Amino acid sequence: MKTVQDYIRTIPDFPHEGILFRDVTTLFGDPRGFRMAVDQMLHPFAGQRIDKVAGLEARGFILGGAIAHQLGVGFVPIRKKGKLPWKTIEQDYALEYGTATVEVHEDAILPGERVLLVDDLIATGGTAEAGIKLIQRLQGEVVACSFVIDLPDLGGRALLEGLGMNVQALCV
Ligand code: PRP
Ligand code: HPA
Repeated sequence: MKTVQDYIRTIPDFPHEGILFRDVTTLFGDPRGFRMAVDQMLHPFAGQRIDKVAGLEARGFILGGAIAHQLGVGFVPIRKKGKLPWKTIEQDYALEYGTATVEVHEDAILPGERVLLVDDLIATGGTAEAGIKLIQRLQGEVVACSFVIDLPDLGGRALLEGLGMNVQALCV
């Protein structure tokens, strides 16, 4: 039987020479692969209270929407700066060159809500760390951070675990 990893395509030299880019469009595009990924991401949280799913732009929206639907809870988009129409709080994070900013609506998470943070991939962990900070600044509790792919050599899992996070990933 195929595993989640079998549905992920690896593209050499994208977006830069020397980068092996993990392309999840082939996973999302396959009905069995996509369902398997969503089901496996949900599995560790069976029986736990989750009030909201937060997804990181852009591929975290695809997974997070499906997971929220399956859990019967609301979905919160954490977006790149300048896209959300209402009042936001923002958080900077480091990129390879320079910085970027993500935002969330200030009323998207209520104090005490238990939030599952979702994305396709964790590399350095900078994006996820910014998402965690936004959720925590709204006084939400991050139940866990769930990814399809962990690139452990880039240190993201270790960074998040150092912040006390429960980090889940389906493959490396
Ligand atoms: C990718 C990926 C994660 C992030 C991981 O998104 O989908 O969100 O990078 O990298 P990090 O752990 O080093 O922060 P990207 O920033 O390319 O955004 P996109 O999905 O909007 O293309
Ligand atoms: N795939 C998708 N997003 C990424 C990757 C990758 O290999 N590395 C850093 N962000």
